[in-house]
Amino acid sequence: MTSHDHSIARPRRLRATESMRALVRETTLSVNDLIQPFFVVEGHAQRQVIASMPGVLRFSVDELVLEAKVAVALGIKAFLLFGIPDEKDEEGSEAWNPEGIVQRALRALRRELPDVVLISDVCLCEYTSHGHCGLVHNGMVLNDETLPLLARTAVSHAHAGADMVAPSDMMDGRVSALRVALDHAGLTETAIMAYSVKYASAFYGPFRDAAGSTPQFGDRRAYQMDPSNAREAMREAFLDESEGADMLMVKPALAYLDIVKSVSASTHLPTVAYNVSGEYSMVKAASAHGWVDERRVVLEMLTGFRRAGAKLIITYHALDVARWLKN
Ligand code: PBG
Repeated sequence: MTSHDHSIARPRRLRATESMRALVRETTLSVNDLIQPFFVVEGHAQRQVIASMPGVLRFSVDELVLEAKVAVALGIKAFLLFGIPDEKDEEGSEAWNPEGIVQRALRALRRELPDVVLISDVCLCEYTSHGHCGLVHNGMVLNDETLPLLARTAVSHAHAGADMVAPSDMMDGRVSALRVALDHAGLTETAIMAYSVKYASAFYGPFRDAAGSTPQFGDRRAYQMDPSNAREAMREAFLDESEGADMLMVKPALAYLDIVKSVSASTHLPTVAYNVSGEYSMVKAASAHGWVDERRVVLEMLTGFRRAGAKLIITYHALDVARWLKN
């Protein structure tokens, strides 16, 4: 009997050459899919190293503009800004200061780079002395009392030039609170990217180092989601969509690809995956040891987010990826 006597299915035919593989490739990754996060600090000529996030810096506004121009030259079209103020208080009042750090960064970027999409993280944890994402009373994070402060912050970001505001606090009702406040201020064109499905995750560790936003007591489990829950993720995504969100985010990404997939399958809004700080730092640490090939693992991870259904990916690897995609 020769091999011709029984035919076997041969998927390998379509893998034989790079041209054939390119022809049948189902998922693509483009620089248009990337959102670059930036940390902004007070001062001048600041490029501060973050020990737990090698390659990521905290920029003062002047340096941020220079770095953003490098990103734009590589084709990156969207930035997500996090402000790190010098002064913190119980309420986080620097968050809505018209002369606050994010507001000044937004105005500078808007002026220098009129075509980029500017997104601002709306949360109080970087601005409160206790490090929680809302007002605290008797050790509890208050929901309804926090909403007007978030709304005020979002409006001040939009006035300063944000195209899109991204609430990351996980208070109930915040998307509609932001939408109503923006509309009342005449900011009907400002979009909302909701951190819809945000888990209480250990993968945020390096970010809290970078932003100085570690809670001074307790943790965030009374407002961020339990990593065990998937049905509840759908409820959060549905609520944010019905409250007027323009994009739905899942965060973190790597351990939550099932959630990315189910959220993207059940909405017509763009789905965003946040490749968070801990995911970044793990890759950086392993590749610094020579244990993994940084470029290959990053491209594989990002392709996985896209394959799971993410249209957009927020990632600290964005600049490197944009460079790799060019060659
Ligand atoms: C603020 C916020 C956090 C992140 C984004 N926005 C930290 C947190 O919830 O503690 C994490 C981002 C990252 O880890 O890269 N609430």
